[in-house]
Amino acid sequence: MKKHVLAAIFLPALLAPAADLAVQDRPLDVPYVPTKFPVVDEMLKMANVTKADILYDLGCGDGRIVIGAAQKYGAKGVGIDLDPDRIAESRENARKAGVADRVTFMEGDLFLADFKEATVLSMYLLTSVNLKLRPRILRELRPGTRVVSHNFGMDDWKPDAASVVTVDDIRHDVFLWIVPANASGVWTWTMPLGGRNVEARMTVEQKYQFPTAAVKLNGTEAALKDVKLRGDRLTFLLEAPVDGKPQTFAFQGRIAGHEIAGQAKATAAGQNQTWPWTASRNPVTEKPIDEEPTIWD
Ligand SMILES: C[S@@+](CC[C@H](N)C(=O)[O-])C[C@H]1O[C@@H](n2cnc3c(N)ncnc32)[C@H](O)[C@@H]1O
Repeated sequence: MKKHVLAAIFLPALLAPAADLAVQDRPLDVPYVPTKFPVVDEMLKMANVTKADILYDLGCGDGRIVIGAAQKYGAKGVGIDLDPDRIAESRENARKAGVADRVTFMEGDLFLADFKEATVLSMYLLTSVNLKLRPRILRELRPGTRVVSHNFGMDDWKPDAASVVTVDDIRHDVFLWIVPANASGVWTWTMPLGGRNVEARMTVEQKYQFPTAAVKLNGTEAALKDVKLRGDRLTFLLEAPVDGKPQTFAFQGRIAGHEIAGQAKATAAGQNQTWPWTASRNPVTEKPIDEEPTIWD
């Protein structure tokens, strides 16, 4: 985002009386600017919040995102802010909204917060702050966790979805990421093909949520198509010869640690051959899926 746009968004708050900052042990990493309510609505909608969720807002301001998730969708929520005035305001707002039993507000530094239990993470911070959090988001949050950010991205980790809300002629971007499982490495399994067992060895390379893969069946390269990962769910099409004729099999499975469990089925019309699919990864072949972020403060 261009510097003048940033200044337009955050300047009024940066010019706030110094006395506000004096109550902090350390300066805020991002000034307080509340997200407009139509943008809050869009963030919750994009994250597909339900009552099964626990939403964490890092730098929660007056608590509006956490309270909105609880009020509109029945979700539980946790808000963290360094500024004690914001926390007091959040608690009061939660009480007035009648959701105090479902939400918790904690005064503290978002960089020290434990947010592993979040199923939805919301942020209206800065790209530099998002990038400091990015390694933790990718390593600590469960695959499938939705991350929504108002206006600020994650550099080369491209969002899975983006949307724009215009309020009072000002454009607001909302970005959504689904935390991907790490599917990288060498996976092996045995599958029945044409009445005999075949050894499969699949090598997966992955950058963020985007895997590419190659597979060998009994040591011979086979065709793989449409390799996709969403959260912990890996899917692909594998073409393999059966009795000398190529057949396509659709694989789907969930990754849990170094194991995949799911099923595979023949896609040809009239074929209803389905079998359980389990694969194991050699742990030493797993690689990081992110780049070390370059952070410009
Ligand atoms: C741009 S506001 C967003 C407020 C709220 N999330 C919203 O969208 O309406 C950023 C918030 O982050 C808080 N903040 C800044 N640095 C922080 C830190 N290191 N730890 C926790 N909160 C912080 C500020 O006090 C402020 O309330």
